[in-house]
This record gives sequence, C-alpha cells and structure tokens, in this order.
Amino acid sequence: MKLFKQVLTGVIIFISLQASGQSSDAVKMKNFIDVLMKKMTLEEKLGQLNLPVSGDILTGQAANSDIGKKIREGKVGGLFNIKSVEKIRAVQKVAVEESRLKIPMIFGMDVIHGYQTTFPIPLGMSCIWDMNLVEKSARIAAQEASADGICWTFSPMVDISRDPRWGRISEGNGEDAYLGSRIAAAMVKGYQGNDLSKNNTIMSCVKHYAMYGAAEAGRDYNTTDMSRVRMYNEYLPPYKAAVDAGVGSVMASFNEVDGIPATANKFLMTDVLRTQWGFKGFVVTDYTGINEMTDHGMGDLQLVSSLALNAGVDMDMVGEGFLTTLQKSLQEKKVTLQQIDIACRLVLEAKYKLGLFEDPYKYCDVQRAKTEIFTPANRKAAREIAAESFVLLKNANNVLPIKKNGTIALIGPLADAKENMSGTWSVATDMSTPISVLQGLKNALGNNAKLLYAKGSNLDADSLFEERATLFGKTLHRDKRTDEVILQEALAIANQSDVIVAALGESAEMSGESASRSDITIPKIQQELLASLLKTGKPVILVLFTGRPLALKWENDNVPAILNVWFGGTEAGDAIADVLFGDVNPSGKLSATFPQNVGQVPIFYNHKNTGRPLGEGKWFQKFRSNYLDVSNDPLYPFGYGLSYTTFSYSDIKLSSPTINANQTLTASVTVTNTGNVTGKEVVELYIRDLIGSTTHPVKELKGFQKVELKAGESRKITFSISVNDLKFYNSDLKFVAEPGDFKIFIGGNSRDLKEGQFKLVL
Ligand code: BGC
Repeated sequence: MKLFKQVLTGVIIFISLQASGQSSDAVKMKNFIDVLMKKMTLEEKLGQLNLPVSGDILTGQAANSDIGKKIREGKVGGLFNIKSVEKIRAVQKVAVEESRLKIPMIFGMDVIHGYQTTFPIPLGMSCIWDMNLVEKSARIAAQEASADGICWTFSPMVDISRDPRWGRISEGNGEDAYLGSRIAAAMVKGYQGNDLSKNNTIMSCVKHYAMYGAAEAGRDYNTTDMSRVRMYNEYLPPYKAAVDAGVGSVMASFNEVDGIPATANKFLMTDVLRTQWGFKGFVVTDYTGINEMTDHGMGDLQLVSSLALNAGVDMDMVGEGFLTTLQKSLQEKKVTLQQIDIACRLVLEAKYKLGLFEDPYKYCDVQRAKTEIFTPANRKAAREIAAESFVLLKNANNVLPIKKNGTIALIGPLADAKENMSGTWSVATDMSTPISVLQGLKNALGNNAKLLYAKGSNLDADSLFEERATLFGKTLHRDKRTDEVILQEALAIANQSDVIVAALGESAEMSGESASRSDITIPKIQQELLASLLKTGKPVILVLFTGRPLALKWENDNVPAILNVWFGGTEAGDAIADVLFGDVNPSGKLSATFPQNVGQVPIFYNHKNTGRPLGEGKWFQKFRSNYLDVSNDPLYPFGYGLSYTTFSYSDIKLSSPTINANQTLTASVTVTNTGNVTGKEVVELYIRDLIGSTTHPVKELKGFQKVELKAGESRKITFSISVNDLKFYNSDLKFVAEPGDFKIFIGGNSRDLKEGQFKLVL
C-alpha cells in the first residue's frame, strides 16, 4: 500500500510538472529560491539588484574595502571587471562566509572579443562569415574567462549600425540583420555551451538593447528614433536571435527609443522582450544607465529608479539607484514588492543556473588559471581566425602576396604598435603580449629578407588628438621629433626597398565607446606619408588598421594594394604576415558598406528603392534620388572582399519557378576557382520581394556559405528557400509572407550578382 501511494504521488507530480510545462530542474530551482527568498529582508533583496564596478580592489584588500563592507551587509549582487582568480575568490569568500545569507556573487566582465587571448574586434569577426569560427572564438573566450573566475560576459554586442561615424560600430557585426542574427546566436552558443552549470561556460549578456547603433549623427549615446516597421525588420532581429539562442541576460542601452530611455522603456523591456519573445533571464542596465535618465529629463534618482523597475529592468549597474531609493518608492507605492521580488528572483536564478549555490568557487580554480589562459592552442586559433577576418580591398596587378626575399620597408605609426593590436575593449589583455606587425614580419622572414622599419609619422599631427585616441594604455609612443625628420627617416629606408608595407589608419581607441568621428578618413599626416611613399615609385601595400568603415577614395585611386586588417587581436602581427606573404589567402568579406565620402552616410546595401530610383548605370539624373557631387555607389559594397584567386559563378538554377507555403525551393549555382591558388569564397544569397503591402529593400541577405576551392575546382552550391525566409513584419507588425514575385540573387558580394525570379503562391 505504501509503495502504491509513493508511486501514485510520483505519477501525480510527474503529470503536474508536465502540465505546467516545467522540468524537474526548474521546479527544484523554484523551490530552492522560494526558501531562500523567504529568509531575505527587503534590503537583502535590493542588494541582489546592485552591481558595482570593482576595478580597484587589490588582492588581500577585499575584506577591508568599502565594497567588502557592502558585500558583508548583503548589499551587492555581483561585481564586474575584476581580474584574477585570487581577487575573485577573496571577494566571493566575503559574500559566502561573512554575509548573513551567504549568497554567492556573480562576476561579470567585458569579455568582448576574447579574454587574454584576443580575437579580432567584433566588426572584424563579422567579416569571417564562418559561424563555426565565430562560435569557437566565444568558446575560447569563455574557457579562459571562466578559468580566471569570470562567469558572466557583457557580450555579444549586436547593435546594427549603418553609421561609421559611430565609434561603437567596431563592437558590433555591421549593418545587416540576418548576418547579425546568425552571429548573435553563434556567440551565445560559444559562451554558454549546452550547459551553463559547467565550470568552463559563462553566461552571456546580449547588448545594448535596443537600437543603440542608430544614434543620430553617429554621436555616441545620442537619440534614436525610427518607425516600428524598421525596428522590427532591421534592428531588433539580432537581439531576438540571442534570446532564441537562450541568452541568460540582456543589457539595456543608453539611448532613448520613442522618447523614452531604453532603461525605462516598458515597450522594450516587457512587451517585446518578455511578452513577445518569451525572455526568461534578467535585464541589467548599462553603466549608470538609471542615473543618466535624470539628464535625459526623466526625473530625480528616486523617480528614474522606479521607472526602470516598472519597465522591467532587474539589475542596476554601478548607479545604486535601486539600492538607495526603491525602499522609499515601495513605501510610497510607486513600485510593488512583487516587482522587487521578481527582479531578485531572476538574479538568483542566474546564480543558480551557473551552479554558484552548489559551489561558489567553481570558477576559482587556480590551477585552471595557470594552464588554460593564453595557451599555445588558443593563440594558434586566434592567429587563424584573425587572418580570416582581413578583407583585401584592392590588389592591382597582384602586388600581393609579396615574396619573402629582397628588402622590405615597413613604415607607419601602426607598424610597431603592440598595445594597439587588440583593439578597443580588450579589458583582460596583457598589453605586453600582442604581436606587432614588425614582430610578425620578423617572425615570418627570419634571415630570408632584409626588413627595414621606420615610423614615418605619428598617428596625427595634433598631439592632443593622439592623447584622446590612445587611452587605456594603448600608447603609440608619440615621437617628439619634427614631422619632417620622422618622414625623411622613412623615405630613406623606402628608397632602399623593393616593396613598401605601410601600416596606417586608426589607433585602437579611435573607435569604440565615446569615440565618434565626424571625419572618417585616415588622419591627414598619414595620408601625406602615404603620398610620399607612393612618389618613390616602389610598390606600396597599405595595411589598414581601422575600427569602422573609412572613406578611402583617394587611397583606392592611388594605392595598388589595400589589406584591411581591423584590429586582429593578440596574434594579429603573425596573421598579417601570413596573409602578406601568401601563406594564407584572404577571404574576409565586408559586413558594413564603405562609403565614398562621409556625406553618403548612412549608406547600406539593403536600402529602399524610392519612387525615383536612379537609372541603371547612371550616376546623376535630374529629379532622381541622387547627389550632385558624388554617385550613389559605395566605395566597397557590403559583402565585398577580394582573394589571391578569382571565382566565377554560373547562372542560378531554381528547382521550380513557384513556391507555396509547404514547399522548399532550391537555388543552385556552380562556383569555380578560376585562379592559381586555393581560396575560400563566401557565396551570398539575396532576395527581393518585388511587390508588397509595405515597401521592401532592393535586396536582403537570406543565406551564405563559405567554401574552400582548389585552383580550377568547381562546386555546386545549393540554398533552400522556404516561405519563412520570405516573411517580414508588415505595418501591423505581423510576421507574414505575401504572395507575388521575388527576385533572387547569388554572388560574391552584394553588387555583382547572378539573378533569377520565382513566385510565391499562397
Ligand atoms: C558600455 C557597455 C559595457 C559597460 C560595462 C558601458 O559603458 O556601454 O558596453 O558593458 O560599460 O563595462
């Protein structure tokens, strides 16, 4: 009888769990947190919502610092940007041994493109178009960060941006929602793996939600305003893709949307994120995002803190608005206890999922910190990945690759600049470790060729500009001699050389946060250096460092070869040598359009047609949509990038001229490597919806495949298209496909494409 009862109870529990849709793990977590929260005071609940920054804690000081005191009082839910397993263990010890309820803390960091081993800046990573490599970079970052005590990263940043003036375009994946969504999912998977409770996976935080990349005039933190149709179709998809991939947390952005700062925007934080997308994790503000709402004009700290909680924000980064004002707001009935409880529960759930209640020190294994960070294997992967991110923009007369013999002059302010190789947001990198271009060329050449080096110019003639552009230890060791002396030294070695490699462009901190530019050309003094180098008559190869699309019209017209290397990470110097000497064939393709000049901005491939489009092949027609002084063409289109070989495309073959709601259409092309060396090609698929209830872009990326082909090799590449690929948000914000004609395009960039047509019958 007893046994029967037990079995019956088991069956009933099983059935009720199934009915509620909850797994037994979810029930266990709920019960655990229920019990814990019953013991918590209001102050302790608010403590969980508090996320201070902790950069200044020294090992051994944790217990005595101000932060230590707050942790002991249960007023801190987590800390971020604290580096080293010893420090993290020390502060965690205070939390779990000296606070009343012994709740472990969560440790976050901006692990943006690698930890100590760094990979290309995200804009560079997004030019790889190989999701396995993107995921691998995040996996290695998670492995290293978790070995050093970190269990939460403020990445991926998936803000779509079409404005290269905005410095943070460097931190995202460019201009396209489809590519951005694929990358968002791959990054989340790389960080979180399939099991967040493992000690080598970390929780991901997608940011900056939402539309941060559409800041007016490209000026950081500026207002964003756009139609809902544009929002849903062109800006929101990558955040949603991260949510669909199971991202554990979301960061609110600094900007306003529809006149309400994102941090207090209920439409974004609750209606879209939770109700429409079903997000189950927690939302953290950006750095002092709550406090900044006072300057936005939303009210004092108490008011803006209550607005944030009411909107659906759970954790307060740095500003302590929640910690210091929510109690009063509760008394005044401006917020409810239930809202505080929900936020507290979500933060505790994250800790539970990470396994911190089981073992608060699970990411604090000193042995792992010694053996799993900056390993030869990780560095090897970073070198390969860096080379894949480089985009060959021009290569007249096959100047590249160059031979490993003769005399090579390496010139430019970015040539011997190891502190700049990692690019912006490389919080955990040891600045002494990255490989400069100079070092990379030396490593590759050994004694086979003579390598001469000179700086040639400073980053900029203006020393104050250079100061602003070399913060956070990313010095370029400004040369105090006169510009003329520095130039003449370079020309002397240039004249002795067979080939000149000019390492020029932006410094690492000329892009990134609060690094917007109104002029997106290479600084003038470097252009002058380049012009002087070209006058020597020697072949000049521009190795371009940049964190944004630049306006390179003059360079494109005058320099025979341009290799865009972004900021490739710790191993970039070796990777650059690999590509310059042809040991690796470049295969990166642009994820953001390069304009001819800044006046064309915003310029992006998936624009609308307008009612007065410019005629095919024309660059000016009166009463058409164009400029008087520049054609509508970009300098380099989205999806563009050259190789040391060439590829040809056959015409498109469609499996059928029509498709219905239940069918899959296949579109194939045969791609042939028509050159002399093995190379990788990104085969890109675009679709245009020709007629609809709303207007559609002239083309939209819907698929891509990266393939490697030997010289002379051909391969059939097939894409499947279903009705889901043809859906869009209509003016009622319904995700629908509409019957009618569609164009299909396949090719190696968004401009040079084969074309076909099919019909959707519904
Ligand atoms: C940035 C975020 C970053 C945070 C924490 C902010 O200023 O906007 O991207 O994650 O700081 O360092």
